Amino acid sequence: MKITIIGAGNMGGAIAQGLAKGRLVDVADITISDSSELRLQELQKEYPLMQVARDNQDAIREADIIILAVKPWLVKPVLETLSFHPGQILASIAAGVTFEQLVEAVGDAEMTMFRLVPNTAISQMESMTLIASRNATTEEEQFFVELFGEMGTAMLIQESQIAATTALTSCGIAYVLKYIQAAMQAGVEMGIYPKDAQKMVAQSVKGAAALLLNNEETHPSIEIDKVTTPGGITIKGINELEHAGFSSAIIRAMKASR
Ligand SMILES: NC(=O)c1ccc[n+]([C@@H]2O[C@H](COP(=O)([O-])OP(=O)(O)OC[C@H]3O[C@@H](n4cnc5c(N)ncnc54)[C@H](OP(=O)(O)O)[C@@H]3O)[C@@H](O)[C@H]2O)c1
Repeated sequence: MKITIIGAGNMGGAIAQGLAKGRLVDVADITISDSSELRLQELQKEYPLMQVARDNQDAIREADIIILAVKPWLVKPVLETLSFHPGQILASIAAGVTFEQLVEAVGDAEMTMFRLVPNTAISQMESMTLIASRNATTEEEQFFVELFGEMGTAMLIQESQIAATTALTSCGIAYVLKYIQAAMQAGVEMGIYPKDAQKMVAQSVKGAAALLLNNEETHPSIEIDKVTTPGGITIKGINELEHAGFSSAIIRAMKASR
């Protein structure tokens, strides 16, 4: 399986590194192209067997899968310069660029396409990646789930769900970081050094996530109930959060990001 990534920026570079660390694709079968020589050199220094290219058409010539990782406004101009072989699969990570727009840019309604929504934790192999497909077989869908599952967790969704799920995952990661930042600010005011506060809060967030991810039977309410002793300090804090509109603020933020 040969994979070409067009765009070696934050996301494209992280996907190339993630694929290279995974077991489903040989490093020598990964090609990455970018307009910046420096980014390509950095990747090749880390993975000498990875192929790099400055020309997108050369880069996709042998590819089975082409992952497009340029900014959304560059998708159309980049695609219009490319010609694809029958059977090649196009996967775009560009936010907000629909299958309809991709079809228009490649001029082929029959082409198998994927829209992928990873988040920045892909650089840590901890992405929540959402996957929508067009004209794909079940085997092809499963391959993408496995491929991106190696870089965290991957889930198939409908294209119509992309906006809502992007809010929860791509934008949502920033809201979690905002919680961490605010909790750290409180810790510093109470006399904890910032670096220590960061470790304490980040590990607590990781722990909360593990409680949910490692037990499908549980739910946030169940886990909150375990730490809210009647008359205790946690319920006092939770009620303060609600008085300040915490749940409402999160719901509004998620809906605003759609
Ligand atoms: N950040 C996120 O959380 C996130 C999540 C999901 C999806 N996305 C999507 O990921 C895509 C990439 O975002 P990013 O943050 O990785 O952007 P980025 O860091 O700017 O990376 C894009 C890369 O593509 C290069 N490029 C520009 N024109 C090119 C061309 N014609 N051929 C080959 N390479 C070219 C850019 O080079 P220059 O800098 O030299 O132009 C840059 O290195 C976006 O469409 C975004 O919507 C982002």
